[in-house]
Amino acid sequence: MLKPNHDLAAMLRRHAIEPLVFVVSMSNKGKVNIMAAGWNIKCSYDPPMIAVALRKEGYTQKLIHENPEFVLAVPTKGQEDALEYVGSNSGLIVDKSKSNLITLDSATKVKVPIISDARLNFECKVRNIISTGDHYMIVGEVIAALYDKDKPQLFYAGRTPEGKRVYKSLKTHFHDE
Ligand SMILES: Cc1cc2nc3c(=O)[nH]c(=O)nc-3n(C[C@H](O)[C@H](O)[C@H](O)COP(=O)(O)O)c2cc1C
Repeated sequence: MLKPNHDLAAMLRRHAIEPLVFVVSMSNKGKVNIMAAGWNIKCSYDPPMIAVALRKEGYTQKLIHENPEFVLAVPTKGQEDALEYVGSNSGLIVDKSKSNLITLDSATKVKVPIISDARLNFECKVRNIISTGDHYMIVGEVIAALYDKDKPQLFYAGRTPEGKRVYKSLKTHFHDE
């Protein structure tokens, strides 16, 4: 039977199966930062657009305000430790781009690098930033995309009873190829 819970933020946390991504950003001086974001969504085919919700205290939103482009990279199996690392350390404190858990490479149309061992990389230019409470919804137009069809997708599947994050991978097919 359904029961109410008046802690609505806790209820949002329970809505926990997320198409996790890496968000890569870069300052005007070339400092690169990477974070994990489960709050992302496709929001237009024509033009192709993607949005991601970023905490206002985080470093990534600051860099995206400074240099309005980003790369959204869909992770694959084996990138669990990288997601834990970039998802629990802020670029305000550590330089995550120096970690050997992350493999960066040049993008094709933006200055921000891609994550070369991810399943998909979307190179985006920011088209809109909407303030949504304690987050900014960053809306980007996808101007280039790179993929590896043989890599399974990794997603976030909530937490164990002890609070440990659970990641799952799924091999799906690009049926239109
Ligand atoms: C599985 C997972 C999902 C996350 N999803 C988001 C998200 O959608 N938006 C967000 O702002 N932070 C999210 N985070 C937290 C950020 O990745 C984390 O606060 C990070 O340290 C921010 O880095 P930055 O300060 O360098 O931008 C998530 C973390 C994990 C582990």
